[in-house]
Amino acid sequence: MLNIAVLVSGGGTNLQALIDAQAAGKIPDGRIACVISSRMDAFALQRAQKAGIPTEVLLRNHFADGNAYDAALVSLLQSYSVGLVVLAGFMTIFGKTVIHAFENKIINVHPSLIPSFCGEGFYGLRVHEAALRRGVRVTGAPVHFVNEICDGGPIILQKAVEVLPDDTPQTLQRRVMEQAEWELLPRATALFCAGRISVKDGIASIVQETSQK
Ligand code: GAR
Repeated sequence: MLNIAVLVSGGGTNLQALIDAQAAGKIPDGRIACVISSRMDAFALQRAQKAGIPTEVLLRNHFADGNAYDAALVSLLQSYSVGLVVLAGFMTIFGKTVIHAFENKIINVHPSLIPSFCGEGFYGLRVHEAALRRGVRVTGAPVHFVNEICDGGPIILQKAVEVLPDDTPQTLQRRVMEQAEWELLPRATALFCAGRISVKDGIASIVQETSQK
């Protein structure tokens, strides 16, 4: 059983999808061991508490610099013996100390089909605003590994979602969450915990389940 840390900053609907998937037995090889928030007032914390999951708040501005913050985050994750870090709307950038300590063990959900509308400055509603401004007809979401390139790590799962003519950033965000994010993030988490994701030459692949299992 792998210990999972879910890192959040906001409403936590993706965290909720993970909690629900766990309760439904869809993540049999992992358990959410803790939820770490970058904000004191994140509603995600209430979702975690309701589900009986330990919570932690780690504020970036409590640390002198990025190195001190990274070191604190790594030791917090290690204190829960975490084997998988899931970024579920986590809006604080951490550095390579964290990435190296959990190499190919950090996954993130992003609300557009990367490499479109991603990288620095593209998060939350801003991503959907940019997609609508560009007039794309299709958007979506991937779950990908986190490496040193912002939103540049190997893609694990990806799903396209239609953009409708009268969409606002809010309606598009909701559709991408419902049709892609809330489905893909629990699935990728379950696959990781089952040891079914391999990474070679920067490309992730899903290993087929063996029939003996
Ligand atoms: C989600 O749409 C997630 O993809 C996005 O923030 C939202 C968080 O919602 N993440 C990013 O933009 C990261 N680059 P939630 O708190 O309800 O899960």
